[in-house]
Amino acid sequence: MSIFKDMLKSNETIFKNPIALDYDFIPKIMPFREGEQRTIISAIMPMLQGRNGRNLFISGLPGIGKTLATKKVLEELEEETDEVIPIYINCWNKNTTYKILTSIAEQINYPFTQNKKTEELMKIIKERINQNSAVFVFDEIDKAEDLDFLYMLLEEIYKSSIILITNYKEWIIKLEDRIKSRLMPQHIEFKPYNLEETKKILEERAKIAFYQNVIDEEIINLIAQKTYKAKDIRRGLYLLKEAGNNAEENSRKKIIKEDVEKAEEKTIDFKIKKTEELKEEEKKILEIIKNNEGKKIGQLYELYKETTKEEISYKTFQRRIAKLEQGKYITVKALTGGKEGRTSIIFYNTN
Ligand SMILES: Nc1ncnc2c1ncn2[C@@H]1O[C@H](COP(=O)(O)OP(=O)(O)OP(=O)(O)O)[C@@H](O)[C@H]1O
Ligand SMILES: [Mg+2]
Repeated sequence: MSIFKDMLKSNETIFKNPIALDYDFIPKIMPFREGEQRTIISAIMPMLQGRNGRNLFISGLPGIGKTLATKKVLEELEEETDEVIPIYINCWNKNTTYKILTSIAEQINYPFTQNKKTEELMKIIKERINQNSAVFVFDEIDKAEDLDFLYMLLEEIYKSSIILITNYKEWIIKLEDRIKSRLMPQHIEFKPYNLEETKKILEERAKIAFYQNVIDEEIINLIAQKTYKAKDIRRGLYLLKEAGNNAEENSRKKIIKEDVEKAEEKTIDFKIKKTEELKEEEKKILEIIKNNEGKKIGQLYELYKETTKEEISYKTFQRRIAKLEQGKYITVKALTGGKEGRTSIIFYNTN
């Protein structure tokens, strides 16, 4: 009755440590990004000698270790010294100067952030951090709705390293001059992993996540292939976890090919839809955006009318832009301040 031997009992699991497949799990070692981590460290290094740090601009496709590499450096820094304060902020959820300064104040253990004005928060931050120095990481910086906080930090903090991370390399070009000229960052571009690297990374995670003999090399290879194609390690982590769940659902002690295939069917298609699915006029707008990176929405509207001669209201144009954004063909970044008050600038999504 060897079939029963391979069956999982109802109280058994194939997952030794399922958390290892979470996207924000921080593994002990991070292979293949030593060079990038060294560059980050060398920007911070001067502060360990009491000097000012350098600023960095990190870009690259989703899911290739930008956040992890930076977080690992912050972790090491914390072990190494108390002189340089590590601050990490994801601008996706902290997307205004006020929210960002509140979060910084909290991270430096200032307990009374409630009901404080922006200026008051900045004063507290300045007084505390200027006794030492700090590394500020602003992840997903393109999601920040205004950049006053950057200007303030650049002006008022004596010794710091400011690290900006984004998927959009072009973001830096459109940065307003008063910030750009103070920031002068060194650029690091993260490149996607090759097939071998992808496999090694997933293999390591699988080793932590599953018990022995749950996943064979053949299955790792299959998942690595699919992940390499997507150029996104998260795809692999997702497939590992879902394939594992599928095996468990079928009371199997081993993950098989079908479990991976079934997991893949479940994947929501993160990828950008094909341009064929767009209407003619939407394609036209996309084309104009592609050739005019980072223009304001009003300027694009004028360009569209000029090239197509179509009588179209601004409202309709805005609706089409919203649709392109929803389909992830473009990224819309809100800008505040300036002569026109609130406006949006538009980027073409290459990946
Ligand atoms: N070299 C590596 N070793 C181990 N795990 C890695 C490595 N590179 C990436 N990962 C894992 O892949 C996942 C995605 O990495 P990360 O979150 O750093 O991507 P990212 O480049 O910041 O993506 P995004 O631009 O979408 O934020 C994480 O779970 C991370 O732990
Ligand atoms: Mg990230």
